[in-house]
Amino acid sequence: MARHRVLTGITTTGTPHLGNYVGAIRPAIASSQREDVDAYLFLADYHALIKSQDPALVAQSSREIAATWLALGLDHESAHFYRQSDIPEITELSWILTCNAAKGLMNRAHAYKASVQANEEAGEDPDHAITMGLFSYPILMAADILIFNANDVPVGRDQIQHVEMARDIAARFNHHYGETFVLPKAVVDDEVAVLQGLDGRKMSKSYGNTIPLFSTPKKLQKGINKIKTNLLEPGEPKDPDTSAVFQIWCAFANEAERQEMREAFEGGLAWGEAKKRLFERINDEIAPARDEYDRLMANPQEVEAVLQAGAERLRPQSAALLDKVRHAVGLRTFV
Ligand code: TRP
Repeated sequence: MARHRVLTGITTTGTPHLGNYVGAIRPAIASSQREDVDAYLFLADYHALIKSQDPALVAQSSREIAATWLALGLDHESAHFYRQSDIPEITELSWILTCNAAKGLMNRAHAYKASVQANEEAGEDPDHAITMGLFSYPILMAADILIFNANDVPVGRDQIQHVEMARDIAARFNHHYGETFVLPKAVVDDEVAVLQGLDGRKMSKSYGNTIPLFSTPKKLQKGINKIKTNLLEPGEPKDPDTSAVFQIWCAFANEAERQEMREAFEGGLAWGEAKKRLFERINDEIAPARDEYDRLMANPQEVEAVLQAGAERLRPQSAALLDKVRHAVGLRTFV
């Protein structure tokens, strides 16, 4: 059976929160367990440099994210799990693609355009604080994807454009130099919940409304207690469909439990009680992984060994593709 190559990167900035877990980590691990999927999951640490120039933060975040994925059950024997910076062929390919990608294409990238717009609104020079890393980041992302000839790239909506750019870049290269790359496509799963944060907006680090995934049970409880509710008293019916507490509950509960909670809301369940149940439900699901996470954070050599082995297993593949690309563009040995 031809297995589908599914590849996704995790930018190593920040500490994983419940929204990352529900929206990205849990579905990616589930997909990696499918028979028909050949999964590639990597720590996009070169991408982290675009967002952060704080070395301690970048290093710490890589460790936390690697430990999080392993603790949550990512099977690194069957899936490919690696660190971008351990595969030097990715950055080599990135340069070759840079020489073929149109600047006009990069000008249209949302992330870059948003920064320019923010500068203009603030009365700054349009290029203020914009690095070449930010500008050409879709090319690095294309290299991530193309180096392993991925078919499918599961991403959030904000990343669809980048995957389409990777496809454009690949098609242009193939057209000019001959068939070299598989054309990847973005896959967005509408079933996956976009979790609401403390204030009811999308849970996101940039809104500062997140609940960390692996803090202590006490901090988890505290985080949940901070979810915004209204002033309805115990006994007064509450609308589940406008409540972040209910929305988060649904991301962790099965169909019967959702129905039960819906009825409890309509029957006047107190906010305090609803939050207590939510805490217990989440805590039950993540407690075993939290213990494993703590163990892995205390044993970085174990995580390091997993990542080293992951890269070692893949290097023959990335090296072979890069050889082909070098030859295609005319970087050839003389004899
Ligand atoms: N840019 C992606 C993000 O911020 C992360 C990423 C880097 C990625 N390289 C990738 C995702 C390749 C998919 C494929 O979410």
